[in-house]
Amino acid sequence: MSPTHSWATAFAPASVGNVAIGFDILGFSVGALGDRVTVSRTGTKGVTITEITGVAGPLPTDPLQNTAGRALLAMHEALQPGFGFAMRIDKGIPLGSGLGGSAASAVGAVVAANALLPQPRSSLELLKYAMQGEAVASGSLHVDNISPSLFGGLVLTVGIDHPRMKQIPVPEGIRAVIVHPQMFLSTRQARAILKRSVELSDFVWQTANLAGFISGCYTNDLDLIRASFEDVVIEPQRQALIPGFQQVRQAAMRAGALGCSISGAGPTLFAWAQAKDAHGVLEAMRREFAAASIAVDEWLVDVGADGAQVVEAG
Ligand code: HSE
Repeated sequence: MSPTHSWATAFAPASVGNVAIGFDILGFSVGALGDRVTVSRTGTKGVTITEITGVAGPLPTDPLQNTAGRALLAMHEALQPGFGFAMRIDKGIPLGSGLGGSAASAVGAVVAANALLPQPRSSLELLKYAMQGEAVASGSLHVDNISPSLFGGLVLTVGIDHPRMKQIPVPEGIRAVIVHPQMFLSTRQARAILKRSVELSDFVWQTANLAGFISGCYTNDLDLIRASFEDVVIEPQRQALIPGFQQVRQAAMRAGALGCSISGAGPTLFAWAQAKDAHGVLEAMRREFAAASIAVDEWLVDVGADGAQVVEAG
């Protein structure tokens, strides 16, 4: 598409952050749901949000208080394009679900705005603008949802000031089971409860698990992935926020999952499973939530959809 559009709409996929063992640095994109953001040129300078529709409840339209608004302001301030941005956001990702909704809006905003620039910027530069949006939602800069939503795939991001990202290969035939209990969990709250320090033994265990998990992905070693798929630092502190967590996780593992953990800050849970086991894992997780009288949304997807793209422009 020509970079001289007067408006553009981008679709940015949802994502599963942390992937159990990569707190704030590892995530994968989920194409089954996402946010659509339309950005138009305006004659007035600055950033405005004209409308927010979709599955999310009331969200602030003050750009400074809005994840997509903050990301677009960062881009506008850095690039001074000589025109303003007006933005419409259509939320497809439930608020406070742990599926990277704030990241998707921020990513959608910068990808759509990029299509209006005479000289579009690199995705790595867009990453820096988009990550400013996360600070609004969670109070801190983290990239585990932003990177997969922007680049697509299972993505490791190293560094904040000078981020480097790596798309990690996912062994053939692995599927992701995603089950969202229909409740709201604040990312800010789920981060606030975390202890500021980690026991040395847990640090060693978690480091080994992250290294083992990534090595297992590169070498198609499903046994190593299964053995490494355990968050010994964050999950034990957050699980009490999710009713039925232990029962759902144990049921997924009994049904043959390679691992099951909290998606981002929760309350969504996700599992990885081989294709032959994936339906059984989904069924097991669904059953446990139903036993706790918790209504859910559910998806069975490939790990790592395409990243954000412009889907319409004029
Ligand atoms: N890595 C973040 C967390 C994801 O777990 O708090 C939430 O957006």
